[in-house]
Amino acid sequence: MHKRILGQQGLTTSAIGYGAMDTAFGEGAEYDAASTAAIRQAYDDGVTFFDTAELYGWGKGERLLGTALAPVRDEVAIATKFGFTPSFAPNSQPGHVRDVVDTSLGSLGVDHIDVLYQHIHDPAVPIEDVVGVMKEYVDAGKVKYLGLSNTTPENVRRAHAVHPISVVQTSYSLFDRASEEFFPVLEELGIGLVAYRPLARGFLTGAVKPLDGYPADDFRRHNPWWAPGNFEVNLEIAEELTVLAESKGVTLAQLSLAWLLARKPYIVPIPGSRNGARVAENDAASELVLSADDLTTIDLIIPGGART
Ligand SMILES: NC(=O)c1ccc[n+]([C@@H]2O[C@H](COP(=O)([O-])OP(=O)(O)OC[C@H]3O[C@@H](n4cnc5c(N)ncnc54)[C@H](OP(=O)(O)O)[C@@H]3O)[C@@H](O)[C@H]2O)c1
Repeated sequence: MHKRILGQQGLTTSAIGYGAMDTAFGEGAEYDAASTAAIRQAYDDGVTFFDTAELYGWGKGERLLGTALAPVRDEVAIATKFGFTPSFAPNSQPGHVRDVVDTSLGSLGVDHIDVLYQHIHDPAVPIEDVVGVMKEYVDAGKVKYLGLSNTTPENVRRAHAVHPISVVQTSYSLFDRASEEFFPVLEELGIGLVAYRPLARGFLTGAVKPLDGYPADDFRRHNPWWAPGNFEVNLEIAEELTVLAESKGVTLAQLSLAWLLARKPYIVPIPGSRNGARVAENDAASELVLSADDLTTIDLIIPGGART
């Protein structure tokens, strides 16, 4: 597994991380055992960067991840996030941030969080105030590096002026290019990009299904990639990309992750899977180098993202 440097503050991670969101959203010992096995598969593959959030099960995801990684705690970086109310509205009020971060330390069972993110911009609290609270935890040795997610380039710039920001986490994949607006500010300030939803929530894998193949409450029902009319076009794109992937002896998921790695040296994708074989498949993409011809072919197939 290759390594990447994120930011200028000393954070080095595996080139591909592990997104643990889905590990928090099921019930029962069997579900948790599969989630734990998937996390350990990632570690065995050389993944050293694990992503969770308070939001993922309100502590359940953090407890599961912290427990799974406890035997190897010193070898990995754990990232978590604060910033939502129970009804999913933004809340980065200083008191709330302190409550959540203190609770996250306990849920993860760690004495420090490696990367602490504001999960979503809160228009009610100036970003300078939010980073001021995050900095308290850095000063106390309870947080190593700071990150922002679901924010704007302007907020990144303002935050970085209060305390160095090491990473910005955004939705970024072959299907979703909006995050490229961050490239100039990230390059100017030397900040890394963590690409969430790098497989377009499973669309960029061999496992995508039409909407009626997912549960009634699945969030894909509100995602324009799956909307009637768009789904068919996007499926055709995925099929063309699959043909290219197969000609190289790799999978669509691997091609999609390698494309992200090829975009910029400061990008680390964090695919999520609770299936050990798929985790291994995704992690192996760290070794895949796409040629200039491959990148041109990909651009011709999908020049600007999915149909929305
Ligand atoms: N900051 C934010 O606001 C934010 C928002 C969303 C996500 N995230 C982070 O980003 C991580 C990844 O995002 P995500 O889980 O939404 O999307 P993703 O990684 O693009 O896709 C995950 C989906 O793809 C499937 N999958 C993964 N690898 C596969 C493979 N090789 N073959 C077939 N199917 C595969 C998974 O199902 P199986 O488990 O069944 O394999 C799952 O349904 C999350 O875990 C979370 O840590 C952050």
